[in-house]
Amino acid sequence: MNKVTMFSTYEKLSKYVANIVEEQLKENRISRFILPTGSTPLGLYKELVNRELDWSAVMTYNLDVYIMNPSHSQSYQTFMKENLFDKINIYPSNCKFPDRNVQSYEQRLKGIPVDLCILGIGTNGHIAFNEPGSSFKSRTRVVDLTEQTLQDNSKYFDSVEDVPKQAITMGLRTIMESKKIELMANGVNKLNILNVAMNGEVTESVPASILQNHDNVEVFYCD
Ligand code: F6R
Repeated sequence: MNKVTMFSTYEKLSKYVANIVEEQLKENRISRFILPTGSTPLGLYKELVNRELDWSAVMTYNLDVYIMNPSHSQSYQTFMKENLFDKINIYPSNCKFPDRNVQSYEQRLKGIPVDLCILGIGTNGHIAFNEPGSSFKSRTRVVDLTEQTLQDNSKYFDSVEDVPKQAITMGLRTIMESKKIELMANGVNKLNILNVAMNGEVTESVPASILQNHDNVEVFYCD
C-alpha cells in the first residue's frame, strides 16, 4: 500500500506516534494539537501519560463531540479527561471541544495554525465525524451520524439506540489547515478503507481521501 507505514504491533504504532508528539512538544512547548477519541488513540495516550512531558503551555482541540451531556460516561469530554487530560499537567481551560458556538471554535483554530493533528479513521472513511458526502470545504458544524457509525460505536453503549445520533465535528477544511497530520488506523477492518482513501480517487464519498491533498501527512497502520 502506498504512503502507509505498517507496524507489526499496536504498541509499536502507539510509541511511534508518541515520539512524534514528544518531538513536537520539545521543539515548541507552546504547541497546538488536534486530538481524536475512540479506541485507536488509547495506546498513544497511555504512552504519553507515561512520559515526563511538559503540557503546561499546550492547547488542544478535539475533533468532535457527540451531542449529549458532556459529563456522561461515554461523552468525548469524559474520554479525554479519563485517558489523557487528568493524567498530564495540562490546564483544563486549554483543552477545547467543539460546541454549538461553531464560529467561535473556528476562530480559535484559525488564530494560529495547529502544529499537529492526530486522526483515526472510521470504517466508512470518515475522519472526525465528517461522514461520506461531507464537503471538502466543510468547517465545524452539527452533523447526523450514519447508520454505519452508529453501529460501529454501539460497542461503547448498551445498545445502538443509545448512541447519540448527532455530533459536532470539525470540518474537512478545518482539519486540512493543520501544519502536519498523522492518521492512525488499527485493525484489519480498517485496511480496505485505508487503501481506498490513500490510493483511490480523491472524492467526497471517501472523506479521508482529502488527505492525499495535504503536503505533510503520515499514515500508520497495524492489524
Ligand atoms: C473520534 C474521531 C473518529 C474516530 C473513528 C475511528 O474523535 O475522530 O473519526 O477516529 O471513528 O474510531 P475508532 O478509533 O474507535 O475505531
